[in-house]
Amino acid sequence: MKAVVAGIPMHWREAGHGDLVVFVHGFPFHAGMWTAQLDGLPPGWRGVAADLRGFGETPMGAFRGSYGMDLLADDVAALIDAQGTERAVVCGLSMGGYVAMSLWRRHPGRVRALVLSDTRAGADGDDARAGRSAAAGRARREGTGWLIEEMLPRLLSEHTRREQPDTVRALREIMEAATPESVALAQEGMAARPDSTPLLEGIDVPVLLVAGAEDEITPPRELESMAAALPDARLRIIEGAGHVPPMERPDAFNAALADFLREL
Ligand code: MLT
Repeated sequence: MKAVVAGIPMHWREAGHGDLVVFVHGFPFHAGMWTAQLDGLPPGWRGVAADLRGFGETPMGAFRGSYGMDLLADDVAALIDAQGTERAVVCGLSMGGYVAMSLWRRHPGRVRALVLSDTRAGADGDDARAGRSAAAGRARREGTGWLIEEMLPRLLSEHTRREQPDTVRALREIMEAATPESVALAQEGMAARPDSTPLLEGIDVPVLLVAGAEDEITPPRELESMAAALPDARLRIIEGAGHVPPMERPDAFNAALADFLREL
């Protein structure tokens, strides 16, 4: 599905009928990472998985200010509007979680509940910022092949890498679709994101936190400390998954999501 949203032809994938769940992908992915969630939505729910600006089939377009989590959050708010509804359950993985937290900061009235998977509330430290700046420069000079080779093994659990070649291939294809400039801008945008930790105690909607047990990029302890700070959180650890449980253990992720949606 494609429509002009926030001034750009935004692309999204959708499935189901009923109350809205918006899925926000991680870096450097696109809406294709949520295929199993759109296929496995419980009855009474409609899923919309967006290609964020500059990723998948959504172009970068023109924008005021800088590319970052706030711009992407404003796009998601406009996407919720475009669905003819005021509020949605917003489900973000990793960078998608940063976008979801920015959405809460800027447009809390749009958020009915949050699912935050394999993400963190804290801002980057100096080393992480320097690493992102170097990665942005290298992507602009050399393209993204090196980034995929470096990231792919770290993204997936040992079990996924050994036993699920189709998952490895699918994730690689998703990453290969990202352009060098989008990779660079997203790195710079993530480096500039603020600390969302002080926000957590004020998030007064239900939150499901999901962590891949073997996630080494945003380890389960990140989600555990978010759970301790949030007023209404439940945490699900997905065994056998790394940083991308929706693709690595789709049945377990979908079961956690369905239990949460049933509660709402
Ligand atoms: C992601 O999966 O979105 C990224 O690993 C997030 C990050 O680089 O902080």
